[in-house]
Amino acid sequence: MPDPAGLREAAARLVSGRLVAFPTETVYGLGADATDGAAVARIYETKGRPSFNPLIAHVADLDAAERLAKVDPLSRSLAEAFWPGPLTLVLERRPDCPVSDLVTAGLDTLAVRVPDHPVARALLAAAGRPIAAPSANRSGRVSPTEAAHVIAEFAGRDVAVVDGGPTRVGVESTIVQVKDGVVHLLRPGGVTREDLVDRLSGVPVIAAAEPDADPDRPVAPGMLLSHYAPSARVLLDQPAPPPGAAFLAFGPVPEGADPRLTRTLSPSGDLAEAAANLFRLLRELDATGAPVIAVAPIPATGLGEAILDRLGRAAAPR
Ligand code: TXA
Ligand code: MG
Repeated sequence: MPDPAGLREAAARLVSGRLVAFPTETVYGLGADATDGAAVARIYETKGRPSFNPLIAHVADLDAAERLAKVDPLSRSLAEAFWPGPLTLVLERRPDCPVSDLVTAGLDTLAVRVPDHPVARALLAAAGRPIAAPSANRSGRVSPTEAAHVIAEFAGRDVAVVDGGPTRVGVESTIVQVKDGVVHLLRPGGVTREDLVDRLSGVPVIAAAEPDADPDRPVAPGMLLSHYAPSARVLLDQPAPPPGAAFLAFGPVPEGADPRLTRTLSPSGDLAEAAANLFRLLRELDATGAPVIAVAPIPATGLGEAILDRLGRAAAPR
């Protein structure tokens, strides 16, 4: 945890319109004052992110969220259950919402979340305003779960990085949008579908539409098919690595595997541990220079849904 002087400096930097990367419980975010259009434009420019892909506004608590957007009863119940934590709610923006239109990419909805990390919470308190923050990686690349990953992404750019150690959850927040009494799961993430269903007693949770399916079904514009992409080609569902490939196991490392090219997401097959290790190990295996990263089969339940979503995008044709 950085000292109070360091946090004050980071908050002052945000308030002056510059970028600060900071840890959340999911991944590191590249933060800017969400009410300052020029500062938000710097996020898009620094990430190389398409400006049609809106950002998440991070706030201190549910009250702060309500000043920006209308919170319907189902969304409120989810906020009460999972905030602070890895859940993002897509809500109807209030007419007097002070957040820059660049954050929402012109949509009339706003994605909001209350992060659960002491550094993120201290920064929000010190800055006293919503912070727009996408994952702190160049657009389309693997998300950062350590300060060193962020530094490697933005070498030479005007980005201050607050180091809070490795992140706990390791995959991004779950994004949901309530529409006509149905909870649409726009992105699987740190809060599992099972957690949502438990809380919702009977309200259906349905998957998001494909980007160009039914125009009335909610989508997250940023769910591009190719994303989280290392340089190596990624092959999923491989019981063992093809010759010359790096291998990302789930469970014990196979006997006789080349230690230089092999990692395991979790020796004991624990999905929470696997999520926390996912992006770091993809980076490590990519750094070996192997042309292919083969990934072991992973169960699709619980956090496995978010892990497989990210791996599916990492494996998608580019
Ligand atoms: O865990 C997280 O959510 C991390 C940390 C830093 O908080 N942030 C994150 O941001 O993953 P980013 O920008 O990498 O992903 C935000 C996603 C994108 O897929 C975007 O399209 C979607 O949220 N999104 C933002 N505003 C939206 C809106 N109004 N409607 C639908 N989707 C929205
Ligand atoms: Mg991202």
